Amino acid sequence: MRVLVVGAGTMGHGIAQICAMAGYDVVLVDISDEILKNALKKIEWSLGKLAEKGRIESLKSVLTKIKTTTNLSEAAKEADFVIEAVVEKTDVKREVFRVLDENCREEVILATNTSTIPITDIASDTSRAEKVIGLHFFNPPTLIKLVEIVKGEKTSNETLEKTIEFAKSIGMDYVVVEKDVPGFLVNRINLRVFVEAIRMIEEGYKAEEIDSVARYRLGLPMGILEVVDFSGVDVVHNVLSEVTRRGFNVKPPKLVEEMVKDGRLGMKSGRGFYEYKGMYGRAKIPKKFAYKINPLRLVAPAVNEAAWLLRNGVASRESIDKAMTLGMGYPRGILEIADDYGIDRIVETLDRRREETGLKEYEADELLREMLKENKLGKKTGEGFYKWMYERMDIGSVIYEKRHNYALITMNRADKLNALNEEMWAGLKKAFLKAKEDEDVRVVVITGKGRAFCAGDDIAVMSSWKKFADGKDFFEKVAMPLIETLSSYTKPIISLVNGYAFGGGMELNLFFDVVIASEEASFSVPEGLIGAMPPIASTLGVGMVGRKLAVYCLTGDVMDAEEAKNLGIVDIVVPHDQLELVGIEYAEKISKLAPRSSKAIKESVNSVRQVFAAALKVGVKELIELIPTEDFKEGMNAFIQKRKARWKGE
Ligand code: NAI
Repeated sequence: MRVLVVGAGTMGHGIAQICAMAGYDVVLVDISDEILKNALKKIEWSLGKLAEKGRIESLKSVLTKIKTTTNLSEAAKEADFVIEAVVEKTDVKREVFRVLDENCREEVILATNTSTIPITDIASDTSRAEKVIGLHFFNPPTLIKLVEIVKGEKTSNETLEKTIEFAKSIGMDYVVVEKDVPGFLVNRINLRVFVEAIRMIEEGYKAEEIDSVARYRLGLPMGILEVVDFSGVDVVHNVLSEVTRRGFNVKPPKLVEEMVKDGRLGMKSGRGFYEYKGMYGRAKIPKKFAYKINPLRLVAPAVNEAAWLLRNGVASRESIDKAMTLGMGYPRGILEIADDYGIDRIVETLDRRREETGLKEYEADELLREMLKENKLGKKTGEGFYKWMYERMDIGSVIYEKRHNYALITMNRADKLNALNEEMWAGLKKAFLKAKEDEDVRVVVITGKGRAFCAGDDIAVMSSWKKFADGKDFFEKVAMPLIETLSSYTKPIISLVNGYAFGGGMELNLFFDVVIASEEASFSVPEGLIGAMPPIASTLGVGMVGRKLAVYCLTGDVMDAEEAKNLGIVDIVVPHDQLELVGIEYAEKISKLAPRSSKAIKESVNSVRQVFAAALKVGVKELIELIPTEDFKEGMNAFIQKRKARWKGE
């Protein structure tokens, strides 16, 4: 079978190469021999690389399959399948299709690689509209193994089927775009993300800050602005103008036009959003910026577009997610990401952007509003764009939720700052055990409702202890069972410290594996100020984090999240509104580990904690011995009466 590729530029030469690699005889057409020679050189270079890696057997055998010519009408007569990839100019394409239609046998399918011109328009200039179809590759087609197969208004099912067969035969995966909408599928979603990123630059953010979120949190292979620079700022400008002219609802940012005028075209001009040294230079994107920007800014407009595509029957849910993963290297589909973060958060972000900008393009799609109404919020309710395993249980003052692959445990006594009373200790233990037993649950996330993570032991309970045995009993029967459960816990635990973490509330974090704190969180172990002492912080804590923690035990000083991070209690500090998101991101990341590996790591870490088991015992004993003392009683009373304690040393 002979494939005719028209246009030997960036896309055409790559398309010709993959067709030849699949065993087709290829004829490559362009307007000058010089261009064709150049194209062949590039193909030879690329094949050489593949041969080096052992991916093709012989460079020569592929290369001899490609013939070149400047005579389109002659080449068309011999063609069995045509892919047009000439410049994105309607009049040029029109002329090419006229010649193709005139010279190709009538059963031959004419596919176009256009990015912005409606397939229906191109087809209308031919006498075979039912045989004209979009076959949209991505740059470089030799690496990105996806094509969008776009139906024009008149494209027949037979043409669609044959084109699918053809795409498969050249080793491409595909998605079908059912309606000929401007930008098709991937570019529509991309443009939303590009525009949002560029608007952030206009707001004063740095490219590195935006791309750091994309790379290190959304897990994209390249930053958003890196992709724009790679594609060419001028190309993005053209695509934007074309699709908006055809009804895509977006206000192109002024900056894009300015950059084009300024010659800041991206990688190819050495300057775009970044500066480049050499053609294949890559931007430096430091990880430290990753938590500055809320990823929902980038994700929400993309999800909104995806919802529009879905609701309008342009593409299926599976196609949308497949297109973004295969076409753009997303680690998960955009709809899956939406289900992870929560449809409520997506809509909230869109509403806020709508208000801030006054732009209608942020209007949340009807489908999203509907989902919100029906409580289809994603993993957090068991259904969003997809169905997820979900379970909820109230265990006293603890809420247990199974959210597909992770469990969320929420301390739910907001009015008492989630203080640890008997019910809370027992509830936490039950919840942790439940998560441990459930094989689907790979990671546990814990957080507190309201202003506090957990303000520590409930003073009302502690002040009710009158004698040594009361406290001893409480520790043995109520507190220690949770501490023992956590000491030997075999699943990773992520703690989201949303506010105060005082006393026991801080100490629990010493058993957790990833501690993520809101900028608003604060930590302290002030037990000494009320006649008690922090048994975990002063033993295992000092052992694990270092003796500086003893200073905080001795002073009861409050530390903010940054201080706690410097001390080693906290791993990451994030803006308050991102706390839940970062927890979800970490849960997702950790659940990728082999289950046995994550268990093995946990057992090992636990064994390090075990080293301090004897010390912890001493700490608990010391605390219990304080209970019958006068100063303990005085401390509790003074705290409750909000007055200064008068110590007697007894
Ligand atoms: P390009 O400018 O690199 O190549 C276009 C080629 O078409 C040039 O070599 C030009 O000489 C040739 N040409 C112009 N008039 C011709 C004619 N009458 N007959 C034969 N050849 C002719 O452009 P590029 O980037 O390869 O784009 C080609 C098509 O692919 C466009 O429709 C574009 O929208 C689409 N596309 C481009 C992508 C990209 O990232 N560059 C990605 C996906 C699609």
